[in-house]
Amino acid sequence: MMGKREFAKKYFGKMTFSIALVLVLSGIFAGKNEMPVFGSAALEDALVSNSASFSTDVIYQIVTDRFLDGDLSNNPDGSIFDTGNLRKYHGGDWSGIMDKLNDGYFTDLGVTALWISSPAENITTMDPSNNTASYHGYWARDFFRTNSSFGSMGEFREFVQTAHDKGIKVVIDFVPNHTSTAEYGTTVFPEDGRLYRDGTLISGFTTDTGNIFNHESWTDFSTYENGIYHSMYGLADLNHMNGTVDAYMKEAIDLWLDLGVDGIRVDAVKHMAEGWQKNWLSDIYEKNPVFVFGEWFTGSTSKDGQMESFSNNSGMSLLDFRFANGVRNAFSGAGTMTDLNGVIEDTEIDFEEVNDQVTFIDSHDMSRFMTLTGNDQRDVENAYVILLTSRGVPTVYYGSEQYATGSADPDNRADMPSFSVNTTAYQVISKLAPLRKTNPALAYGTTRERWTNDDVYIYEREFAGSVVLTAVNRNQNMGYNITGLLTDLPAGTYTDVLEGILGGESITVSSGGVAPFTLGPGESMVWQYTRSSVNTPDIGNVDPMMGKAGNTVTITGRGFGTAAGQVYFGTAAGRVQSWSDSRITVTVPEVTAGLYDIQVKTALNAASNTYAGFEVLTGSQTAVRFIVNNAATSYGTNIYLVGNVYELGSWSTDKAIGPFFNNTPTIGTYPTWFYDVSVPAGTTMEYKFIKVDGSGSAVWESGNNHTVTTPTGGTATVTVDWQN
Ligand code: NOJ
Ligand code: NOJ
Ligand code: CA
Repeated sequence: MMGKREFAKKYFGKMTFSIALVLVLSGIFAGKNEMPVFGSAALEDALVSNSASFSTDVIYQIVTDRFLDGDLSNNPDGSIFDTGNLRKYHGGDWSGIMDKLNDGYFTDLGVTALWISSPAENITTMDPSNNTASYHGYWARDFFRTNSSFGSMGEFREFVQTAHDKGIKVVIDFVPNHTSTAEYGTTVFPEDGRLYRDGTLISGFTTDTGNIFNHESWTDFSTYENGIYHSMYGLADLNHMNGTVDAYMKEAIDLWLDLGVDGIRVDAVKHMAEGWQKNWLSDIYEKNPVFVFGEWFTGSTSKDGQMESFSNNSGMSLLDFRFANGVRNAFSGAGTMTDLNGVIEDTEIDFEEVNDQVTFIDSHDMSRFMTLTGNDQRDVENAYVILLTSRGVPTVYYGSEQYATGSADPDNRADMPSFSVNTTAYQVISKLAPLRKTNPALAYGTTRERWTNDDVYIYEREFAGSVVLTAVNRNQNMGYNITGLLTDLPAGTYTDVLEGILGGESITVSSGGVAPFTLGPGESMVWQYTRSSVNTPDIGNVDPMMGKAGNTVTITGRGFGTAAGQVYFGTAAGRVQSWSDSRITVTVPEVTAGLYDIQVKTALNAASNTYAGFEVLTGSQTAVRFIVNNAATSYGTNIYLVGNVYELGSWSTDKAIGPFFNNTPTIGTYPTWFYDVSVPAGTTMEYKFIKVDGSGSAVWESGNNHTVTTPTGGTATVTVDWQN
């Protein structure tokens, strides 16, 4: 007889042993599934070493200061420290998180990535404008040093190593938009928003002779442009087009990535120019193609063209606020389950890669789910069932598994109330999270609504023959008889993956569908089928979705086989770096810049689906500010830029860059227009500006094309007059 340990070793091959053991012990193979026959290199997509793709992961978001104080000696002094005051530091640190890594709290919960507060050094005085300390990490002063209240560089390294040893990835919050607050009426700020580089002062906000910061006062949030170049609530707004700032942010993120960080959550991406961010990301991906997702806050479930365009074109994913708001509405009563299905269907269309958006149901910037629902534990549990079985990379907000409460900031960021492993919410998460590693329907699958009304949402995820069917009834006073339910689950009997803890039962599937059953008041049930052998290659994800020739790209999915085949970018094959049945790494081939379909061909010459839209860049990127003077237009007409390189639309007016901005006094106001663009470095380009009216028709500048040779690194500004 094989012991559990041997079993785990045999069937999970190179997978970190602790995860394999957890998967086996947690009984994720319970229910009607064939035992997957994993080859020696199977489930490579689920390994902690796969930092490019988070499709199989469940993230756990920690406000570091509020989790666990593992080391009293690093707590700051009393001016900013008071465990009785939610606006001051409470002492939580990486040492405390390590304690919980070591005692199995995260492993048993099933989460496989920790998103921690920004680790960078923050101000050490109270912000006088709101009488708050920097416990949250959003007020940096030195991105090259650690926040000493969280730990030293040595401890950060130890924390990352400890997490990796447990099969858990590390995501840091990163805040390149600003330093600390520096502007509020006549208030004098002790730190003056100062930015340091490993202890050396670069600039303060009021002494800023080098234009390290933007100086446009507070944003009124009225336009996209206003939000980018003005400050958010007086937070000293960094001028990324300044070469010093651009280099600083590239080198600072490299420092943290070189320390082993697996992913980046970028703060406030709506408030920084997309062109600068794309140039920064491109630099990151050349060296460290990790998973990056940005925060584009919206309080709504509706389409926001600018937001989806950013997600589809910038090279990074976004936190999925539309999904979060949809789930919140369904449980707060502001919407229904049918509405939630509408959000799921709409976002599937609006986002090119909906499975790569990062989902959540609450966060440090919104009321906790318990408080939202009037302290209803079952609502929290049911919402987690939806989060963990829906498309996207799910994020559990620390303390939700302990039913933490709190409406607004800072109440929604209080100390961990408990570390119990016995709450129902903890159990729900621990039963569903491991399924994301093994059943590819959750990681990569499509979503299909199967049965819905105001209270009930039954939906099916499917990928490469694997299926997960989820049923949730939000109404705790009324049950529903579920008849006529269709499914792609193969015929058979399926036990509830939740093992009945939310009232679930087994279902029987025949060719006619699911035999009628009752979804009782407030009940949730999940059934799954994991296909054991997949003979046709199926691409689930490609990460990142942009890069230049020579970059490394990760392809995940099923059925690639164990022997190396080929990965095509259009018709050009990339050099295969590694190959397994569920994960391939490949070098982007030397092809002309543009969008490419990716296709895998196995060693046996079986062809996969094509995965559309991989963006090959012309080369390394640099950020250039284009300014055009004297471009008079009539109302409703805007200025765009088009040129002879792919990044400038290859002379195609429908791919022109813009609409340009024209309302920032320190940069340009009408009839001067400007825009910050990511373009190939060290390249001589030709370009022109066009005027595009409300109906989309374009009028070109006359005269010769403008030319510019971009710098090989850093940033540049080019200013020309509109040629009448
Ligand atoms: C969004 C963060 O999530 C929020 O908590 C923070 O205060 C602002 N950005 C500014 O950094
Ligand atoms: C059309 C523009 O009018 C012209 O100026 C430019 O040189 C060409 N496109 C490039 O093909
Ligand atoms: Ca501490």
